[in-house]
Amino acid sequence: MIWFWLWLVAGIIVLFGFVVVRGAPYVPTRRKLIDEAFKDLYPLSKDDVLVDIGSGDGMILRAAARQGARAIGYELNPLLVVITKLLSRNPLVSVHFADFWLITLPSETTIVYTFGDSRDIKKMYKKVQQTANRYKKNVYFMSFGFKVPGIKYEKHDKSFYLYKIKPQN
Ligand SMILES: C[S@@+](CC[C@H](N)C(=O)[O-])C[C@H]1O[C@@H](n2cnc3c(N)ncnc32)[C@H](O)[C@@H]1O
Repeated sequence: MIWFWLWLVAGIIVLFGFVVVRGAPYVPTRRKLIDEAFKDLYPLSKDDVLVDIGSGDGMILRAAARQGARAIGYELNPLLVVITKLLSRNPLVSVHFADFWLITLPSETTIVYTFGDSRDIKKMYKKVQQTANRYKKNVYFMSFGFKVPGIKYEKHDKSFYLYKIKPQN
């Protein structure tokens, strides 16, 4: 029996640990902060489609849906995908088990959210820029905790940075 528990714990550690090769480890944004940000910094509405790249337990998705927005998450840890599905009964919320570096963001995307890390933040910004270029429309990018080096943000509050990314060419 002890082996079962040891393997289980080892499996969970591996699941949560291996993602650091591809992005930030699981640490949730504080719920109170995100509720304020989705009202004050970028007031979400039913016209928005928010994409969380690295959606963790889906807390951001549920917060966005509470404001009436559609919310789509991409998450590499299958356990967190299952937890998101269990906790998110709102039909506005969906989550995909996927590496966000390898997917094309949906054409309906109006805002991309991330709680990433300093290593990846510029690359994430570029991915959103590619999305704006592809669909020839403005796409907002909200980053928690990390500023994009060399890029002027549109708004900043507490630990959130909001960028308005315009299509190029
Ligand atoms: C710092 S947590 C943020 C969770 C959530 N967005 C929040 O703010 O509460 C980062 C999440 O990104 C996931 N992640 C890291 N790299 C990823 C990748 N390449 N593709 C999809 N998910 C990834 C991790 O498993 C983790 O759940």
